[in-house]
Order: sequence, then C-alpha cells, then structure tokens
Amino acid sequence: MNYENILSEHHNGITTITINRPKKLNALNKDTIQELHDAFEEADNDKDAKVIIVTGSGDKAFVAGADISEFADFSVEEGGKLAAQGQALLFDFVENLSTPVIAAVNGFALGGGLELAMACHFRVASTNAKMGLPETSLGVIPGYGGTQRLPQLVGKGRAMEMVMTAGMIDATQASHYGLVNHVTEPQELLSFCEKIAGKIMRNSSVAIAEAIRAINANYKDGVNGFEVEIEAFGNCFGTEDFTEGTTAFLEKRKADFPGK
Ligand code: COA
Repeated sequence: MNYENILSEHHNGITTITINRPKKLNALNKDTIQELHDAFEEADNDKDAKVIIVTGSGDKAFVAGADISEFADFSVEEGGKLAAQGQALLFDFVENLSTPVIAAVNGFALGGGLELAMACHFRVASTNAKMGLPETSLGVIPGYGGTQRLPQLVGKGRAMEMVMTAGMIDATQASHYGLVNHVTEPQELLSFCEKIAGKIMRNSSVAIAEAIRAINANYKDGVNGFEVEIEAFGNCFGTEDFTEGTTAFLEKRKADFPGK
C-alpha cells in the first residue's frame, strides 16, 4: 500500500511503521490516523510480520500530539466524534492487535502521541524523549484513551499530576514510573527494539496472541480476566504451535513454530 504520511517497511519478521510528518513533529491528523490503521491492519494480517515497531521520523519527535489545527473550531458533537473515531480506528485497535507492537519513543510523545505509545503493548524510549499529556493547557482533556491508560501504567496519583500540570517527564522519570520499559541512546533505539523483537520471534506467535488477549482482559469492564485466561490457555492445546513447542522440548531441540 502507498502512504503519504507514514512509511511501512518489512525486514526479517519485523514491520516498522514510521510516522512521517517531521515538519509538524509527526502530529496525528485525520489522514495519518487512517493510514496508521491501514498499516497496522496490513501488518497484523501479514503472516511474516511477527512484531511491529512504531516510531516517528526525524530526531525530534515520536508524535507531538493530535493535529491541533484540525479540531480548533470543533463543536461538542464533533469533539466527541473525534475521540470515538480515533479510539476505534487506532488506539483500541492497536491495543487489541494479535501481533506484538513496540513503541520506539524517539523524542516528544505528547497528547495523542503518548496515547499512541500507551496503546502499544510496551514502550522503549531514547534518552531525548519527553512525554506528557498537555491537553488541559489547551482547555481539553486527553481523548484517545489517555485518562484510562496512563493511570493503568503509572498509577492514579502520578496520572492525575501529569494531566493536571500538563507537564512533560523525561525518559529517566518515565522509566522510573514504569511508563517505558527501557531507555537507550537515540542512535541505538531501533536496534534495541529489534533485539527485543528477536527474542519475541523465537516464541509461538499463536500463544503470544492469546497472551495479549488475556492480559488485555484485565483492563476491560465487565470481563473476567481469569476466565479469559482459562479459555485462552485451553485454546493453545489445540494448536500446531503447542504440539511443536512441547515436542521440541521433550526431544531436546529448538522449537520451529509454524507461525501466525
Ligand atoms: N498539532 C499541530 N501542529 C503541531 C503540533 C500539534 N500537536 N505540534 C507541533 N506542531 C507543528 C507546529 O505548529 C510547527 O508548525 P509550523 O512550523 O508550521 O509553525 C511545527 O510543528 C514545529 O513545532 P514548533 O512548536 O515550532 O517546535 P518547538 O520545538 O518550538 O516545540 C513542542 C515543540 C512539542 C513543545 C510544541 O510543538 C508543542 O507544544 N506542540 C503541541 C503539543 C501538544 O499540545 N500536543 C497535544 C495536542 S492535543
């Protein structure tokens, strides 16, 4: 597929999606959100794409937020629709993908940018990353899941403070908060993420997809995560990956999983 605002490349089992509007610090406009949806869907359906990495182009920003110029004159109804459509098309969509998604946070991750990083399955930041939810400084609140996912990741008090102050935290503090799993030098960010992707790819994609579903169930209202885990655990027993994984262990060899 051809994209105008993003790049999508595939190498050795990894699809890297790069948000590519560096002059606007990779701000998420409507077209970019649609293209990201399409690229994530395409990668999730690609049997060879075992891990997806998402990052921003240039050395300054992952994503500096939703594109403020697009919604500055919106009404109450349009504001609600913007949040609902964005959440369905991108943020919830990414969180619920079966393929692992790593956010490589390479600079500013603000507003919708941090919300996108938080919708990914986990995050790695470069030392120059700056993260925050500045929406209250614009007279609005985070609308792409930020009020829900930030407290899940850092705890309620820290989330309250970050949202109320509209301030930014650096990579070290984000790591201390548990918002990012690792911090690397900027030039090592992608290779570090690829190394983690390599470790993920040794394991069963089918089992990982079930694990993502079970872990996410813990955060869904009205869903009993333990019951989802029991069902997902049971499902694994009917897969070729399970037969291969257990047989390989008993035969003292490395498993060669059939894949997605
Ligand atoms: N929406 C639309 N455009 C944005 C943007 C956003 N969220 N963030 C940055 N841009 C644009 C700027 O308008 C500017 O465009 P221009 O060159 O046509 O004027 C360009 O990107 C570069 O940004 P600039 O502000 O000049 O860079 P800076 O280094 O001085 O500041 C930031 C960087 C990230 C601190 C600043 O751009 C900023 O505060 N952005 C908005 C962050 C935000 O509130 N996000 C939440 C949105 S809900």
